[in-house]
Amino acid sequence: MSKTFHVTTFGCQMNEHDSERMKGMLGSLGYTEASEQRDADLILFNTCSIREKADSRFISYLQLAASYKRARHGDVIIGVGGCWAQSVKDEVFRQFPYVDVAFGPGQVHKLAEFLTSDSLTAQGFFEFEGFTGHLPAARERDFQGWVQISAGCNMKCSYCIVPSTRGRQVDRPLDELVAEVREMVAGGVTEITLLGQNVNAYGRAIAPPAPRSSFAALLHELDAIDGLKRIRYTSPHPQDMKEDVVLAHATLDSVMPHMHLPLQSGSSRILKAMRRTYSRERFLDRVALIREHNPDIALTTDIIVGFPGETEADFEETLEVCEEVGFDGAFTFIYSPRRETEAAEFVDAFIDHEVAVARMDRLVEVVQRRANERAQRFVGRTLDVLVEGPSRTDPSRLRGRSGHGKTVNFTGLAEAGEIVPVEIVRATSQTLAGEMSLLARALV
Ligand code: SAH
Ligand code: SF4
Ligand code: F3S
Repeated sequence: MSKTFHVTTFGCQMNEHDSERMKGMLGSLGYTEASEQRDADLILFNTCSIREKADSRFISYLQLAASYKRARHGDVIIGVGGCWAQSVKDEVFRQFPYVDVAFGPGQVHKLAEFLTSDSLTAQGFFEFEGFTGHLPAARERDFQGWVQISAGCNMKCSYCIVPSTRGRQVDRPLDELVAEVREMVAGGVTEITLLGQNVNAYGRAIAPPAPRSSFAALLHELDAIDGLKRIRYTSPHPQDMKEDVVLAHATLDSVMPHMHLPLQSGSSRILKAMRRTYSRERFLDRVALIREHNPDIALTTDIIVGFPGETEADFEETLEVCEEVGFDGAFTFIYSPRRETEAAEFVDAFIDHEVAVARMDRLVEVVQRRANERAQRFVGRTLDVLVEGPSRTDPSRLRGRSGHGKTVNFTGLAEAGEIVPVEIVRATSQTLAGEMSLLARALV
């Protein structure tokens, strides 16, 4: 009987990617995946520490795993990887003595070393080295794949824990990425998502002797791969959003008409305190450039409310930018102080929670109203939808994603992985509804 593992993943797409690599690596060590955590010989967590809520949620999961371990008289290995593990390092063993192994995002490969070593007792691995992208992957879906183009982040956003949990930015060589994507496409992948903390800074931090490159160059090389239909990426930084990337959207068929461009705040004063390195005007200027070349592109964003020192006037500027830009969607967060970040020291300027919550409600109203208005442009159009499976709310219907990144629920007959034409009949801020166009399909 082979040993079994179970992985629970928290956090961003980079963590989802890293978890697929953990699973791939465990597969090559002869482990198989258990469907229930309580049955697994190896219980793993891939953690996130971006906001305080993420931490507290995770700890309740960890305690449950400890109870499974006790029930099996300790004959279970508990492993904790990812950003939270990195941020607490060896302290994890003091606070949670039932944890056997802990490793940061740069040390996933060390898990194999640990599992094959003689002493399976409290070991921690926290160097920044190696890309999880080098490990074998166990992909969730055959036709979609993540590609880690870089690790770490060189920005110093004052609220953000990521530079300390993922280290300095290191990029993978262009040739290596092209070869990896070619191999994925040969294996049936048609849609890829390029991952990095600041993807459009790609190319400057490639270790010599491999030559430097640029994000636009990478997009061009990948677009030329036969059989690759859709390229997505997340997240770019407004500071590095240059014309070459904007033009890549306009000229390369496989680069999808969607860009996630985090705003964070609409107030130049707050942006400065956040160390975002752009002003409100500069952000709006980037949006104008993007839309000049790509009038129909979907723009989504991230916004933080209640950053230390944010006044009512600052917040209103954020609302104004949201009104003016009209994002197709936004992730909105209440500021959460993180250990060892600059903004966590601005204690005197912290915003009352009730004030932040009230601002959040007002922001969500504007974001949703504008997203809803924007979505109406799809009604009556026929969009190419990549089928992902049955609809979550009505299993007799199908669910997929449009090029713009919108979830589409529709009637029709198609297999997961197919790209089919869907005529859109209704649109809300979050999803589109439609019918598969049989006539258009017959013509494809
Ligand atoms: N590297 C990416 C994403 C970082 S984390 C980028 O720069 O775009 C995703 C989002 O979480 C951020 O864009 C930000 O809006 C939010 N976030 C990060 N730290 C936060 C904090 N301390 N409190 C609240 N939201 C935070
Ligand atoms: Fe964090 Fe800023 Fe880097 Fe994004 S760009 S990961 S928000 S430091
Ligand atoms: Fe969380 Fe780390 Fe991603 S803190 S959001 S898992 S980079």
